[in-house]
Amino acid sequence: MANSDHGGSPTQPTVAGHGGTADRLAERKSLLRGRLRAARSRLSQAERAAAGLALMAAVLELPQAQMAGTIAAYLSVGTEPPTGGLVFALWKRGGYVLLPVLRDDYDLDWASYEGPDSLVPGPRGLLEPAAQRRGTGAISRADLVIVPALAVDRAGNRLGRGGGSYDRALARVGSQVPTIALLYDDELLDEVPAGPHDQRVRAVGQPGRGIFWVG
Ligand SMILES: Nc1ncnc2c1ncn2[C@@H]1O[C@H](COP(=O)(O)OP(=O)(O)OP(=O)(O)O)[C@@H](O)[C@H]1O
Ligand SMILES: [Mg+2]
Repeated sequence: MANSDHGGSPTQPTVAGHGGTADRLAERKSLLRGRLRAARSRLSQAERAAAGLALMAAVLELPQAQMAGTIAAYLSVGTEPPTGGLVFALWKRGGYVLLPVLRDDYDLDWASYEGPDSLVPGPRGLLEPAAQRRGTGAISRADLVIVPALAVDRAGNRLGRGGGSYDRALARVGSQVPTIALLYDDELLDEVPAGPHDQRVRAVGQPGRGIFWVG
């Protein structure tokens, strides 16, 4: 697994409004993304696959996932913990699974997953559901929301890919809905740089620790 030296420098403030301009915040996020991506790229295929299987088992065991009628999830790309098996299993179990469709403005539209044959190539190497788009507000109807992240801190602050897509999407999720970010084991940090537009997640999933609440 990747080493755990992903935290910000202890001499640097990591929360906006405590000494950082928006530019400084963006710079700190960018630096941290680079380190996290590099660590992910050092994982072997076998380590990634094992992480995906462990995360799938943890989510499927979760009572909130078993009770959920509608689940918003995502298909992993690149070195992210694999989620293809999880998405398939949630759908096979009878859940209504919504997947994101990236819009040109980086906001997220949503469409239902209807099996592996229902996916088509989208922009930036993403696979997207071919079904009718339900609009950016469709995520509001999800009983459980599963999102990607490069890191999350103990307050639930989330570092994503840098498009702000999930900051917009998570702002539309009700306050009682579990929102879970899937990480590798070294990606729960003491502090993640966050600004006013950053939306927190309420739970984290890690291969070695399962699903647990943060914040
Ligand atoms: N609610 C919003 N409305 C419009 N733009 C936004 C919003 N939230 C974030 N953004 C834009 O997205 C940019 C990147 O945000 P940020 O660095 O937090 O991305 P991220 O959370 O890592 O990405 P993602 O959510 O896609 O995984 C921000 O600088 C801002 O321009
Ligand atoms: Mg953000």
